[in-house]
Amino acid sequence: MKIVLLFLICLVSLSHSSRKHRRSHRYNENWDHHVKHHHRRTGAMPVPVVLWHGMGDCCCNPMSMGSMIRLLEEQIPGIHVHSLKLGENIASDTERGFFANMNEMVALACKHIKEDPNLAQGYNAMGFSQGGQFLRAVAQRCPDPPMKNLISVGGQQQGVFGMPYCPGDTFVCNSIRKLLDLGAYTSYVQDKVVQAQYWHDPYAEEEYKKKSIFLADINNEREINATYKQNLLKLKNFVLVLFKRDSMVVPKESAWFGFYKPGDEDTILQMNETRLYSEDRIGIKKLNESGRLHFLAVDGDHLQVPRAVYIDIFNKFFK
Ligand SMILES: *[C@@H]1O[C@H](CO)[C@@H](O)[C@H](O)[C@H]1NC(C)=O
Ligand SMILES: *[C@@H]1O[C@H](CO)[C@@H](O)[C@H](O)[C@H]1NC(C)=O
Ligand SMILES: *[C@@H]1O[C@H](CO)[C@@H](O)[C@H](O)[C@H]1NC(C)=O
Repeated sequence: MKIVLLFLICLVSLSHSSRKHRRSHRYNENWDHHVKHHHRRTGAMPVPVVLWHGMGDCCCNPMSMGSMIRLLEEQIPGIHVHSLKLGENIASDTERGFFANMNEMVALACKHIKEDPNLAQGYNAMGFSQGGQFLRAVAQRCPDPPMKNLISVGGQQQGVFGMPYCPGDTFVCNSIRKLLDLGAYTSYVQDKVVQAQYWHDPYAEEEYKKKSIFLADINNEREINATYKQNLLKLKNFVLVLFKRDSMVVPKESAWFGFYKPGDEDTILQMNETRLYSEDRIGIKKLNESGRLHFLAVDGDHLQVPRAVYIDIFNKFFK
């Protein structure tokens, strides 16, 4: 398995970037008025940005995270960008997007963030796909240095139930599907398969709550960890980007904290109909009511974000 994985360099995202600009995208512009405009910093260094790449990708692919870094540098001159690398090299960084214990990976990310002197005064964060929920875990578990604004681009904030499309080596993807089928909530699979750790089976809601070592924990499904809530509420803004034609995140509403109704795959509960929200278990209700939770819908497939939308996000939250 190891040998195969060594060849799993993050080429997958190539297809994403080449598809990215194909169509014109309309997106919801009503979110503007919610934004608390902060003062443009004059003379000061811009707030640095931390990126967490998605599944099948890695920190430094020139076509994916590399082009994001260039776009940030072009739009915000002088900005420091830290694209998280969670392995000794890009092969292991890619591999750990599939096979890892996410609690250990989040702890490693926290360590990298703490050790980067450029981030000591705080930073903004942008996570792609599963990187969206991983960075939320960083916000909840590691408040120092402070994360200011968090952008989740197609994240699976309430998990997934299905993997119709897996951006990676066929062998790897098939292995993961097999392991998920075998038992996503067995301790063996939980400990090793990243996607199992945000696998959310609406027909096994209780098992998910009890046995999911990552998502159920950060979503305070078992008990309420007040620290998580306190820390998430330190965010200035939390932006949730959903893709209206997402073929990878199932259900796509997970990007906005929606999910299947327990025991009923045919019904989607919107965020405000979930227990997570009504009981405000992690603070998203309070974030929303204080105008700091923002919903953005992009009319495209997974991670197909037009450049103009990114620039808009940077202007509103990163400047
Ligand atoms: C709550 O989360 C904090 C931060 O990760 C952790 O140190 C603490 O042990 C957690 N508390 C409980 C009761 O799990
Ligand atoms: C959820 O939010 C929508 C839109 O803001 C609203 O129409 C609906 O009544 C809300 N539902 C609940 C249960 O609060
Ligand atoms: C978020 O809060 C606003 C009020 O600040 C409310 O109108 C809106 O319905 C809330 N959204 C949801 C999804 O409940």
